[in-house]
Amino acid sequence: MKLRSLGYLVVEATDLSAWKSFGTEVLGLQVGQRDSDDLLWLRMDDRVQRIVIERGERDHVVASGWEFRNDLDFEEALAELDAAGVAYRRDAERAERRAVADLAVLEDPSGNILEFYWGPTRDGVPFVSPTGRVSRFLTGDEGMGHVVLACPNFRETDAFYRRLLGFELSDFADMGGAMGHFLHINTRHHSLAIVEAPQDAWFVKGGLVHLMIEVPTYEEVGFALDRATKAGCDFFETLGQHENDRMTSFYVRSPAVFPIEFGTGAIKVAYGEHVAENIPFPDRWGHVVLDVPSA
Ligand SMILES: [Fe+2]
Repeated sequence: MKLRSLGYLVVEATDLSAWKSFGTEVLGLQVGQRDSDDLLWLRMDDRVQRIVIERGERDHVVASGWEFRNDLDFEEALAELDAAGVAYRRDAERAERRAVADLAVLEDPSGNILEFYWGPTRDGVPFVSPTGRVSRFLTGDEGMGHVVLACPNFRETDAFYRRLLGFELSDFADMGGAMGHFLHINTRHHSLAIVEAPQDAWFVKGGLVHLMIEVPTYEEVGFALDRATKAGCDFFETLGQHENDRMTSFYVRSPAVFPIEFGTGAIKVAYGEHVAENIPFPDRWGHVVLDVPSA
């Protein structure tokens, strides 16, 4: 399957204004063309949206959006889903709310919702961070970042992503009794990580383990850390550096409760060439988890 990148994340929220202030003032994202009581687009680049916030009854992730290069690759992917017996639903209304040409909704074997799409919209408006302290976000061919999903049906879900969708294994780790697989689909070290855990595990918040977004420099991570601190945000992990992708980052709690990893400096991998390694220690330094349950 010719899947290219993580294109966007869709979130359901009870309070869109909380996302608007968190997204712009803390993360440094820009409000897009949709800015109503029930739909908010946040921009990271020249695309009209990279995070879509929809008004709903709860604060929870709706779906991760996965991009195909064009209609032919998209149709080919749906044919492969048909052949594999994976159900999906074409959804023109969702496509309109995401400003993409065509879209299909499906579930992975652990119940995480995915949206396959092609034809995202560029609006010709240059990205300018309202903070003045983010020069740009690293997107392009590597997509908007990475998501980490809880996958109770781990083996089946791993086969779904690697054997059917075409992800490759970057590295793997036993994360304190839970297996973690870090998966790449382009040169980003991982666009997706899957963790062997139930959806109600203590580190799964609002349906997600975390979303990562990346900036070019350490300085921009420092500025963001200052903004989050001054805004009184809760942190999930302190500043630190991962062993596997070498990313230096911190984890801040979003209005949907799931943490957002804000980082820089990740290494690249080569699709089709990378050798998967066992990396049983997640961090080189830092990343102290701050809200481990006491019980
Ligand atoms: Fe991460």
